[in-house]
Amino acid sequence: MTSPAIDRPTADEQTPVSDRLRRLIDGRVTGKSLEAPFYNDEELFALDMSAVFGRHWMFAGNEAEIPDPGDFVTLDFGPYSVIVVRDDDEQVRAFHNVCRHRGSRLLVDEKGSVGNIVCGYHHWTYGVDGELRYAESMPKDFDKSCFSLRSVHARSVAGLIFLCLSQETPDDFDEVADMIESYAGAHDLANAKVAAQFDLVENGNWKLTMENNRECYHCAGHPELSVNIFPVYGYSDDDLPERLKPAAELLRKATEEAVSTWGQLGLPYAAREELDTRSTGFRIEREPLALAGESFTPDGTAAVKRLIGDFPTAKIGRLGLHLQPNSWFHILGDHAVTFATLPISPGKTLVRTTWLVHADAVEGVDYDLEKLTTVWRATNLQDAEFVERAQDGTSNPAYLPGPYSPTEYQVEAFVNWYVTRLREYVDQAPA
Ligand code: FES
Ligand SMILES: [Fe+2]
Repeated sequence: MTSPAIDRPTADEQTPVSDRLRRLIDGRVTGKSLEAPFYNDEELFALDMSAVFGRHWMFAGNEAEIPDPGDFVTLDFGPYSVIVVRDDDEQVRAFHNVCRHRGSRLLVDEKGSVGNIVCGYHHWTYGVDGELRYAESMPKDFDKSCFSLRSVHARSVAGLIFLCLSQETPDDFDEVADMIESYAGAHDLANAKVAAQFDLVENGNWKLTMENNRECYHCAGHPELSVNIFPVYGYSDDDLPERLKPAAELLRKATEEAVSTWGQLGLPYAAREELDTRSTGFRIEREPLALAGESFTPDGTAAVKRLIGDFPTAKIGRLGLHLQPNSWFHILGDHAVTFATLPISPGKTLVRTTWLVHADAVEGVDYDLEKLTTVWRATNLQDAEFVERAQDGTSNPAYLPGPYSPTEYQVEAFVNWYVTRLREYVDQAPA
């Protein structure tokens, strides 16, 4: 029996793009929020899945979520489900969660540990390297080597796992990965452990989740977070409102002190921002924190006694990282918080927040879970409310795209990055 010689790419097939969508993409007005269908239309959501999540590197989770061989997480987004697993050589691998027999979903749990990946339907059995090991009652000339799981590019960068569904990956990722390693490597996230994980389904489009995260224009709605950070994020001196001038002055002083600490510890801190000028858009910067300056806690003191890297002090502020299309990170001296945005449908998005601490930190001894998670749990719930209101309003027939404030320039950069990705895709697609 000859096996079908398919290893068709799953994400690279170009699907036709309708004239209606082409007109919407062509008609995008710079400096304004997107037209309503970008947030609530099924056909546009399918295009997002192909042109953005099917083509670009996306954040999937942390090495700390799968510490041992056989540990896995399944990641569902749009029509896709991907298994991220640590193989027997301790490498991070990723496969489409689809059986090569008749297509059954393989792993149904969100996380767990397996020796092999066994399909629950007719029990085809795959190794954690994706190779088909066992298939009962198939003909003698059945060639198992032709029915390995379909692989997905997976890469760990400073302990953060990224996936790319496309066979041809964006060629600038190495450069961005090196940059992330140089800033985040000292925090040793690859050897951290998960202290807590919080999944929140926001009733909004994934782009509203990302847009909301790219500005602090709404930070008055975050009383807990606002005392930890200097809520002047995104403002320039020219558009800084009077009410934020004291915070800007405190930030200036705290930065002076922090620069001295970062210099002594050899920690890179300069802002680097290429949000919409490359395929793998990013922003990174180390900044001081307010109050005690150590952590996201009600008084700013460290939440974890055992620090996450080999630092002599917890007072090293936060390393903030944004990556298009679906993630942001706060990496501190005592812990790190990672955020993955996973689209479910046009109007629903999963936001997964993960708190990482030193592998040897013990709950109840080195940290208190409530103190560690309270600020971002509250902030996430507040953001979910903002996103839901934006989804409601943009779905109202009365909605018209509105202008961004200068302090929302990173929202514009995100939208510009996104629309550029759609244009690239549409230029290659059949009508
Ligand atoms: S569909 Fe998986 S073994 Fe049949
Ligand atoms: Fe927010």
